[in-house]
Amino acid sequence: MPNDRRPLIAGNWKMNGQKSDGLSLAEALAQRMKAESDPVFDMVVCPPFTLVADVGNAIADSGIGLGGQDCHTAENGAHTGDISATMLSDIGCGFVIVGHSERRTDHGETDLGVKAKAAAAQAAGLCAIICIGETEAERDAGQTFDVVKTQLSGSVPDGSTAANTVIAYEPVWAIGTGRTPSLEEVQEVHALIREELTKAVGESHANGTRVLYGGSMKPENARELIALEDVDGGLIGGASLKAEDFWAIAQSCV
Ligand code: PGA
Repeated sequence: MPNDRRPLIAGNWKMNGQKSDGLSLAEALAQRMKAESDPVFDMVVCPPFTLVADVGNAIADSGIGLGGQDCHTAENGAHTGDISATMLSDIGCGFVIVGHSERRTDHGETDLGVKAKAAAAQAAGLCAIICIGETEAERDAGQTFDVVKTQLSGSVPDGSTAANTVIAYEPVWAIGTGRTPSLEEVQEVHALIREELTKAVGESHANGTRVLYGGSMKPENARELIALEDVDGGLIGGASLKAEDFWAIAQSCV
């Protein structure tokens, strides 16, 4: 995590939280963030759609960013159940996660579709948090680098910039399992991602783009992961649901 990339700690709440849970979590984080005189990290929370607006109000003026967990490729129209990037932006979001492995698996999302979602997000003025990562079978077969390269080139829109794009490397087998790759393995993949980004968007944007690690990040392992040269923060699931754990992860950047 070199000095020129400001670490980003992003919480992916997934399909968790009634209104009261979400609000107390958001309020607890807002309180801590407001007490920080000069935070050295950016923090974003991505609640389920039902809570985005209320959480937005709870974190207003705290400096914490707001994000959605998915968006449609179109701006509006006949797409029952979907939410557009413009709608997210309209209620105060600055970010949206696209291509999370759970959406790739549960909803058959492809690289091409993820790229279109990321492009829609960028066009709406959001920063797209684009998720990529190999399955356990792919890792065991020695295909990690190939999979990551293919997903990256397939999912990142042309003309992406350091300002409107964040990459989250999330090995599927590490999500919610308590298992993580070794530090060397994480750094190796992140360096590859930066190298591939350099080819795709040029050196300056590649150097400025934050590449997050995700998959069982918790207070106990965050510091060493975030200290890796090409790791610029984390996309955190389970541990983002408890204010003290999520905050402790953010404090690993200090
Ligand atoms: P986890 O999830 O932190 O619970 O492993 C991370 C993610 O899916 O974004």
